[in-house]
Parts: sequence; C-alpha cells; structure tokens
Amino acid sequence: MTFPERFSNLPDYAFPRLRRLLDDHAPGGAPLHMTIGEPQHAFPDWVTEVIATHAAEFGKYPPNEGTPELLGAISDWLARRYGVRVDPATQISTLNGTREGLFNAALALCPEQKRGQRPAILTPNPFYQVYAVAALAVGAEPVYVPATAATGFLPDYAALPGELLDRVAIAYLCSPANPQGAVADRDYWADLIRLAEKHDFRIFADECYSEIYRDSPPPGALEVAREIGADPERVLVFHSLSKRSNLPGLRSGFCAGGAESLGHIKRLRSYAGAPLPLPLQRVAERAWADEAHVADSLAQYRRKYAIADEILGTVPGYRPPQGGFFLWLPVADGEAAALTLWRGTGVRVLPGAYLSRAVNGDNPGAGYVRVAMVAPEQEMRHGLMRLRDCLYG
Ligand SMILES: Cc1ncc(COP(=O)(O)O)c(C=O)c1O
Repeated sequence: MTFPERFSNLPDYAFPRLRRLLDDHAPGGAPLHMTIGEPQHAFPDWVTEVIATHAAEFGKYPPNEGTPELLGAISDWLARRYGVRVDPATQISTLNGTREGLFNAALALCPEQKRGQRPAILTPNPFYQVYAVAALAVGAEPVYVPATAATGFLPDYAALPGELLDRVAIAYLCSPANPQGAVADRDYWADLIRLAEKHDFRIFADECYSEIYRDSPPPGALEVAREIGADPERVLVFHSLSKRSNLPGLRSGFCAGGAESLGHIKRLRSYAGAPLPLPLQRVAERAWADEAHVADSLAQYRRKYAIADEILGTVPGYRPPQGGFFLWLPVADGEAAALTLWRGTGVRVLPGAYLSRAVNGDNPGAGYVRVAMVAPEQEMRHGLMRLRDCLYG
C-alpha cells in the first residue's frame, strides 16, 4: 500500500499531542479545560423550535449552495455589519463551518502554477491549522510568516521578497486572530489588498471571530476592499455561526466575495460538497437575522476580558486581546509550562508551539501558551488565578 507523500510531514493535530504530553500525569487539582476554542455560552432557545418546525425537511436533499432565504439573510447581515451589499445568488456560498470552506476554497481557486512556477500560499505563524493542510493538498508551498510581538501579532507579508510574492496564489489572514487576539485595522487590510493587487494573489480572510471584540467591531476585508475600490475578486471572507452564535455543532458558515471566485467554489461544491440539512439551514437563516443573542454573548466575553485584565494585568508581557476569546500568554517554554500547570493545579492549556511551525529552527509559538476563555465566568476566574499563581507567582 502506498500513501500520499504530501501529508507525510504533517505533525499530529494539537489535541492528540496535548493528550500525549499531559495524560500520563495526574492533575494537581480539579481538572479545568482551557484548551479548546469551543464556545460554551448558551445558544438561543429558538434553535430547537426551528429544527422541530422544519423536521420534515430532513426527508429532502438540501440545496448545496444554501436556500435563497439563508443566502438572503447572510447578504442582509453583511450589509448591516459592514455596509457592503453582495448579490446573494452569485457572491455567497454557505459552508459547513468555516474550516471546510477555508480548505475547499483553496482546492477551487489555487492554480497548478503561478507565473510558470509552483504557487505559494501564505499563512501567519502561529495559525489555524487548516491553512497549511489546504496548501499541502493543492501542491502549493506553504510559507509560514511570523506573526509575533515584533510585527504586532499579524504577519508582515509585505516584507517577503518580491519573487516569492509573485508566486503567491493565496494569503490567509485571520482577524481577530486565533491565537494572538490581534485585530487587523483598516490600514492593515488596505495595505494587504494593495499588495495582493500588485502581486496578483487572493486574500482568504478568516473572520470567524468578528463578533467577539473588546471595543469596536473589527473592520472586515470586504468593506475595506470596497472602500479602496479593489477588484472584488481579490478578497474572500469566511464567517461562521460557531463563535458568533455559540453554535459550533450546527456546522454552519459562509464565504462571500467576487462572483467569479464564488462561481468556482460553488461548482466544485456541487460535485463534492456536503450541504447542510435543510432544518439546520433554517436555524442559520434565523441566526444571521438576529443580533440580540450576539449582543448577549459579547457582553459575557467583555466581562471575561475584564476578569483576565484584573487577574493577569500585572504579569510581565500580558497583552489584553483585542478580539476573539483566547489569551496568548508568554512563558519560557510552552510545553513545560502546560505540564507544570497541569501537574500543579489541574488547569489545562495548549502549548503555543502546537499551533505554529519552526522555520529555520525558530518556532514563534514556543514561548507561549494559549488559554481559551470559554468556561463560565467563575470557573474561568479561578482557572486564571491558579494559572497566574503557578506560572507567574
Ligand atoms: C481561526 C479559526 N478559523 C476557523 C475555525 C473553524 O470554525 P468553524 O468550522 O466551526 O466555523 C476556527 C475554529 O476554532 C478558528 O479558530
């Protein structure tokens, strides 16, 4: 039996690695999981009602690209949130969560060659792991670009050599960023879009944390592209109900952008896509149309930011996240810190290096742990106090 070479260097996923690191050791207190980015605020009550009302539609094949009603609700949301009006019929595709979309859009849109050479795909480092797997799957060269304190925790793609940028087919950018919590402002997006125009590549903007932020709503790539008059094909945005509406199990998101790019994505999806069951599309339609539950969840995250600031504010190197629900905390060695914390207190966090790649011997995540602020407030407060006393006491 032979297996593909292209995935042979893929490290194990972060969570099996974490289990290997910690599970042979007894926890030093009641276990508290602060590892997985799984939202735990309540989802709206009406979710189950909508599913029940439309249960008979489990008996039908659902439309691949989304019902017209769902596409309309998404288009209205984009207009309300970003002031951008996109055509629901041609410029949006529903997704089974953003993860599959971030992967499949690369399959649909990355060319075999760029200017006669192997294409490159840019990803921040550290990063959400699907970006790298998408690059490998399409035979592109993944280029891991540091997103560290020195670059404001977002990648400085413009600093890459011009010959490399000319080979770039796709640049991933996550804002608010997982894991660093950095938010790309208007200038950052505008500069990146201009760079994409100059070197003729597409931007895949992972905005799945867009509704979780500290002060003001993060700007989106689509609105900035519109503001600067960029080619609408330059930018694809990816959004999800997983974080916005506390519905990670619904597996519902969408991507939006230029009609030509969306046409390619939808065509591939019509062959190989897995559409969302119709009753769940009805839930998604209602969720994009409702902001009350989003505001309620945001208020809870804002209290969590305040708790984190209160408990960790005096820790050297603590940086309040601008958005998202992760803390990216500096430590001497992330793996050693995660183990010490588990053995000393029972609090479980993720070593930063499991979310990043070593480039020329330097792993920009190695000196960090990632902490998810998803547990109920009191639980989170106690977890952070145990963490502070154990790692920084
Ligand atoms: C940065 C980032 N992008 C995408 C996703 C995928 O989310 P979903 O597929 O649930 O929309 C996640 C999930 O944790 C994430 O952290």
